[in-house]
Amino acid sequence: MHKPHIPLDEIRAEVQACHRCPLADGRTQTVFGEGNPNARVLIVGEAPGKNEDLQGEPFVGAAGKYLNELLAIAGLKREDVFIANVLKCRPPGNRNPRPEEIELCTPYLREQTRTIDPEFIVTLGNFSTKFILKTEVGITRLHGKLQMAGKFKVFPIFHPAAALYDGSKRVALEDDFATLGELLRA
Ligand code: URA
Repeated sequence: MHKPHIPLDEIRAEVQACHRCPLADGRTQTVFGEGNPNARVLIVGEAPGKNEDLQGEPFVGAAGKYLNELLAIAGLKREDVFIANVLKCRPPGNRNPRPEEIELCTPYLREQTRTIDPEFIVTLGNFSTKFILKTEVGITRLHGKLQMAGKFKVFPIFHPAAALYDGSKRVALEDDFATLGELLRA
């Protein structure tokens, strides 16, 4: 028996009211995610940063500007994809998500994924890759290699913010988005 999918607006309302963990106390607002509700590609980042917390939308800061360029390499526009994060609230000072926060928050991502029902999940960076693939293998080894998680094709890629600190990651990121474009056209 399949459980019916929860409409995205209902999941959004649950996220907005969420106080499951203390990150709720420090947020300006939740960042549910945005994009095409029927997207072929679901992009999963890590957590909102300062700009995302202020604007309520994912990837609107420097990493987001770069993400838009990377999507274009794959032949995608932001409106084509749905963009969400592992955590819906900003961790203080942009520290890494904690295991208990991931555990409490990811039921929302799981419901979003079931409802959007994408063909591809692109995981950006270690936290989303480890969560979606249930693996301890790091992004350095997995990036650019197509994986499966149940029925979903999963394509791990470095987090765009990593390339803003370490320019040597740009080539890998851009190559991987080019490969994603090929997979989408195949
Ligand atoms: N980094 C992320 O992982 N997600 C965002 O929404 C912004 C920056």
